[in-house]
Amino acid sequence: MKKLLFLDQTGKSGGAELCLLDIAKNYRSSCLVGLFEDGDFRKRLEQHHIPVRVLAKRSIAVRKSSGAIAGLMSLGQLIPLAVRVATLSRQYDAIYANTQKALVMGAIASRFSHRSLVYHLHDILSPEHFSNTNRRLAVLLANRAKLVIANSQASRDAFITAGGNPALVEVVYNGFEIEPYQTEARSPIGLEGRFVVGHFSRLSPWKGQHVLLEALKYCDEKVGAIFVGDALFGEQDYVQQLQQQVQQFGLGDRVKFLGFRNDIISLMKSCDLVAHTSTAAEPFGRVIVEAMLCGKPTIAAKAGAAPELIDHGINGWLTTPSDAKELADMIESCRQNSQETAKIAAIAQQQASQRFRLTETNAQIHQYLEARL
Ligand code: UDP
Ligand code: GLC
Repeated sequence: MKKLLFLDQTGKSGGAELCLLDIAKNYRSSCLVGLFEDGDFRKRLEQHHIPVRVLAKRSIAVRKSSGAIAGLMSLGQLIPLAVRVATLSRQYDAIYANTQKALVMGAIASRFSHRSLVYHLHDILSPEHFSNTNRRLAVLLANRAKLVIANSQASRDAFITAGGNPALVEVVYNGFEIEPYQTEARSPIGLEGRFVVGHFSRLSPWKGQHVLLEALKYCDEKVGAIFVGDALFGEQDYVQQLQQQVQQFGLGDRVKFLGFRNDIISLMKSCDLVAHTSTAAEPFGRVIVEAMLCGKPTIAAKAGAAPELIDHGINGWLTTPSDAKELADMIESCRQNSQETAKIAAIAQQQASQRFRLTETNAQIHQYLEARL
């Protein structure tokens, strides 16, 4: 078993962090997770008895869209952290960077400590997601790694298009513990008598909550929606925009915003259907797989990894990103053909519980690490 220093820039529990949590469970006795910010994610790691340390005094102020100047201005923050990571990494076989800023730190630190670098790529390195500078920097640094684990074929392809070395990349999907999905438990959601569409994502413009709100306008009155998730990275303007949309479309009694929740499985089980509505390419999309594992009919926006997870009409449905009318038609079609819809959802549940087993994805990662480090 390799000794790994995992690095992640955030203390929040986003998809990349939940994926890391599941991988780190396998390395509990031989790893440390270093975070650049404190938060809920640190607590979750501790609950699972995974060694964790917050390495930065305050979070790093570079965004996905930042250019070179903002990057340089943050050097004052970066250097002390890189020194800390380099010193710490001497006790490990490899530095395993889980996010972009972790990659920057990890690459600098690995130069000094002569430890191998592994990069888990959870992003689509395309112009719609990242500035030119950040794309170039990510590829330049990732090409120094011994191994790049891409969370989907779509992330792998974008990495190579951006100049990434194909020989470094292995695709490993997110894995899931299947057993918790077998529960019959339901969480109350308070939209009795309605056909409930669930949306499970942080509130952020590219996650497209506004598309589902608009789709509700074209659906039967009986159709309502719950939005589960919070503005994890400070997208307060978007939250306001969504609230205005609810007022403007008169959806007050058909829609509920439930904030960030930890009972995702029983909430999903309470829904009649789950919609994923990202307007930009989704690098993987844990919520799509989670909905399939719950045995819920799943509609996803056809971009990024969604077509790798869903075969349209076979185990779910794909719609054109940002097309609210098409989404509404699809919701109505599922609602009105309930028997056929249930059959497809059952196939999805069965397939997903074979394809996305955590034991298997963790075994793949273990094998790649043993082979490349
Ligand atoms: N999630 C959660 N509570 C919430 C909303 C979302 O635990 O209130 C989880 C969700 O179940 C999924 C993850 O957050 O596992 C989001 O991952 P995904 O890959 O779908 O999107 P990301 O936010 O990472 O881009
Ligand atoms: C990132 C991506 C998301 C993916 C998750 C886990 O947060 O945005 O699509 O599912 O990582 O790999």
